[in-house]
Amino acid sequence: MDKILVLDFGGQYNQLVARRVRECNVYCEIASYRTDLETIKAMNLKGIILTGGPNSCYAPGAPTYRKELFELGIPVLGLCYGAQLMNQVLGGKVERATVQEYGRTEVAVNTASPLFDGVSEQTVCWMSHFDYISRMAPDFVSIGKTKDCPVAACECAERKLYGIQFHPEVLHTPEGTKMIYNFVRGICGCDGSWKMDAFVETAIREIREKVGNGRVLLGLSGGVDSSVAAGLLARAIGKQLTCVFVDHGLLRKNEGDEVEAVFGENGIFDLNFVRVNAQHRFYVKLAGVTDPETKRKIIGEEFIRVFEEEANKIGEVDFLAQGTIYPDVVESGLGGESAVIKSHHNVGGLPSYVKFKEIVEPLRYLFKDEVRKAGLELGIPEKLVMRQPFPGPGLGIRIIGDITEDKIRIVQDADYIFREEVGKALDEYKKVTGEVASWKPDQYYAALTNVRSVGVMGDERTYDYAVALRAVRTTDFMTADSAHIPYEVLDIVMNRIIKEVRGVNRVFYDLTSKPPGTIEFE
Ligand code: XMP
Repeated sequence: MDKILVLDFGGQYNQLVARRVRECNVYCEIASYRTDLETIKAMNLKGIILTGGPNSCYAPGAPTYRKELFELGIPVLGLCYGAQLMNQVLGGKVERATVQEYGRTEVAVNTASPLFDGVSEQTVCWMSHFDYISRMAPDFVSIGKTKDCPVAACECAERKLYGIQFHPEVLHTPEGTKMIYNFVRGICGCDGSWKMDAFVETAIREIREKVGNGRVLLGLSGGVDSSVAAGLLARAIGKQLTCVFVDHGLLRKNEGDEVEAVFGENGIFDLNFVRVNAQHRFYVKLAGVTDPETKRKIIGEEFIRVFEEEANKIGEVDFLAQGTIYPDVVESGLGGESAVIKSHHNVGGLPSYVKFKEIVEPLRYLFKDEVRKAGLELGIPEKLVMRQPFPGPGLGIRIIGDITEDKIRIVQDADYIFREEVGKALDEYKKVTGEVASWKPDQYYAALTNVRSVGVMGDERTYDYAVALRAVRTTDFMTADSAHIPYEVLDIVMNRIIKEVRGVNRVFYDLTSKPPGTIEFE
């Protein structure tokens, strides 16, 4: 299989670069610029992309690479810092620009270059730089310029070395994907065979080879990643797989049954499925607890305990399977140069509470959208595969204050109505306009505030809870804005919640962006 390496110099868009390459049906991996040349040679690459980065390449100690990288005969595309670095290492010059460009910028490109094949001569790009290439390396020519930047792109066609000062990987460069396509499919000659059906087939073969006759245990949460991992493993090794699904009673309405319908006895896969109905245990442990962090801790610990008890019943297994995906690997600092953003529970440490010999992670090299495609390929229902993110502690962190069964009922029912009505409105919008509504939230749910207030229903005074609706638009879940759900939709939701959910007499809509708010309430 053709492979591209994204050599990471610490830029913020590096995962995006890799995703764009994959969207061209070409497999790629991210690795730190510290990766040595021998390792790179052994990777059998079709091409290398050098990413952007926050440094100045002329600063002492700035990330760099030996010039031999450019002598391997493998095409190289440098982006932003990567382009500057390539020119500097090969004998050009990089300096602080007098006019620094930031944001949408008009760029004129030479469409005779294979990099810009099919791109408009005048196009728009996303610039973000304070340095510029003041003198190109020998044998390089400029193939793109902006008002203030004489070398917005350059090439040494003979050696298949290319540089782009702007960021083709972001959506603000509308023809950027075309440029990346031109590099990986045209210049590097990748055949575009990285497709999800091929992945599924290969993954199944690899799982069989690795697992042999061994027994595999997987903790199934009902989330996208563990569900797709379960489907893949089930197709590969059938009854050698046991999935343990712990229902902690903090799932969304009907969710436990939906998971069971897919993976249980009458589901679409042939595997051993164990559903542990541990609701009561969690409720007892959580009774009267109001502090968010304590709630999270209790839920996390109890979860492990329940899983451990089930695992012990099964006895020693050969493999523990996990739904780790590529961003988990990269964000844990194992796959690239990015600072460790979060230590992911799936990566790095192996759980010590289950007896197993080895770990198997069939989704380790997939991005989320690829995981979803693989899930659909495996026949897992769209409803499960396209699910929005749902936190591990579940509704436990969407009920402010202490948790009771009655509050769980309220939040489940209100949330169900909210999701149903938003789903309906989105479908309707699509039917009428043929387009996805611009307000479509990336995550939305109902939470239960701990506020009770006076109301009137019929002729009676009420003293009931307020439900908060939260809907956000976000690309990376690190920042978010509240979604502009049409007022009419919110109005329908409010009316239905008040009418159908006993114990609620007020509905709020949360307008807070992140920061300062977080997406969840606790
Ligand atoms: P916050 O609330 O931090 O959420 O803005 C960002 C994203 O992460 C999800 N989230 C969690 N996911 N375990 C998870 O698996 C958790 O404890 C957790 N807390 C928040 C949240 O739903 C959002 O998508």
